[in-house]
Amino acid sequence: MMKMVDDFRWKLRQKEYVPIMTGGMGVDISTASLALESARLGGIGHISDAMGPTVSDRRYETNFVQQKYQKYKANTSSSNKSQVHFDLKMVEEAAFLHVDNTMNAKRGEGMIFVNCMEKLSMNNPRDTLKARMAGAMNAGIDGITLSAGLHLGTMALVSDHPRFRDTFLGIIVSSVRALRPFLKRAAKLDRMPDYIVVEGPLAGGHLGFGMDWAEYDLKTVFVEVVQFLKDNDLDIPVIPAGGIFTGSDAVEYMELGAAAVQVATRFTVSEECGLPNRAKQKYFEALEKDVVVNQVSPTGYPMRMLTNSPGIGQGIRPNCEAFGYILDSDGHCAYVDAYNRELERTQKEGGKLIVEDKTCLCTQMRNFKIWTCGHYVYRLKDTTHQLEDGSYQMLTAEHIFKDYQFSRDHQVKLPEKTTISPQTTAVAEEVAA
Ligand SMILES: Cc1cc2nc3c(=O)[nH]c(=O)nc-3n(C[C@H](O)[C@H](O)[C@H](O)COP(=O)(O)O)c2cc1C
Repeated sequence: MMKMVDDFRWKLRQKEYVPIMTGGMGVDISTASLALESARLGGIGHISDAMGPTVSDRRYETNFVQQKYQKYKANTSSSNKSQVHFDLKMVEEAAFLHVDNTMNAKRGEGMIFVNCMEKLSMNNPRDTLKARMAGAMNAGIDGITLSAGLHLGTMALVSDHPRFRDTFLGIIVSSVRALRPFLKRAAKLDRMPDYIVVEGPLAGGHLGFGMDWAEYDLKTVFVEVVQFLKDNDLDIPVIPAGGIFTGSDAVEYMELGAAAVQVATRFTVSEECGLPNRAKQKYFEALEKDVVVNQVSPTGYPMRMLTNSPGIGQGIRPNCEAFGYILDSDGHCAYVDAYNRELERTQKEGGKLIVEDKTCLCTQMRNFKIWTCGHYVYRLKDTTHQLEDGSYQMLTAEHIFKDYQFSRDHQVKLPEKTTISPQTTAVAEEVAA
């Protein structure tokens, strides 16, 4: 009989885990409750630290965004954002609060990691990243996964932290080319990453590939990375991600030497996921033709999303005084540039201000208006029941996790059918708000 994921375990520092890791999904799409379910079930759950101060305001009653906005509001009409800076104490405290609250609620044998997207350069890449990592480490995070925009010097930023060697540190790469220099630098610190996530071109969020992403495939890159490590006598667990939709997909990688798998899209339609219910229904409804990889993200990386994401093609004013997570070390963001270009054009020619080529990622992700997803989002409808009113039945994270863990032969186990429509819940949610 074909194996299932449960036949495997990931052994890390003498402890065994169910080899399923739920990936980080910013901005608070992979919520603490979602990550906590993975940990409770013996796997590893990621929270994300993207837009930490904003998430903290929403969850922990701080008012970091307002404080920053008050300080810089005189700058809102200026196209120059170079003076808009984050208070490092605030950044660290936001990371601390999110991680501390999550860790205090942790049950079971699994672990909680935080996804740190380095491309959120916050007008001061080194110091803000250091503050984010230190905040998480001080709050007792089990591990940190460094993603998108990986810098060779990142590990050194926290090398003097007392938890530098006890916090699990991992990286996400999409090629041997990106991995090689990172490992060289890590060797100098005598601190190799504890795991390497290899993300293929079918993943959600930002891609580590160019617009020629379709010419690559996860299995090939995964095998190349495993081979590269072997050739260099490096024993580091490798974790594939991107398009692993069934437990059997995962088993294929485990048999090729994967230590675990990282999955995300299947969980976007779980009750614990941070997306609003209406957005979850859009993920269920998606057809293959609705999924695009485009360049509207001002980070410079291609990003996969649903074409009907309401945040595409708007012309909202940049909100860097309150947010400003994408500003590079010179205070530039590609959306700010695109917006100013269109502003100038409409001032001359009239007409409505629309920015087609870029999106204001901070505001739109914060408001759940960019529906980023993995390529196989259009298969989500096959993982549940369609209800009489046409809506789809939501799943629990536990159901999805266990389906990955115990399914064989590419079967997807449907949940027990309920009669409560998620549309009803969505309406109730709105009334309550
Ligand atoms: C809605 C969504 C948001 C994501 N956000 C992030 C992110 O903020 N940082 C990151 O490194 N990866 C992000 N990802 C990528 C996932 O962590 C994961 O590696 C990938 O999506 C796995 O592929 P799958 O979705 O096909 O299972 C995101 C994925 C999704 C679906």
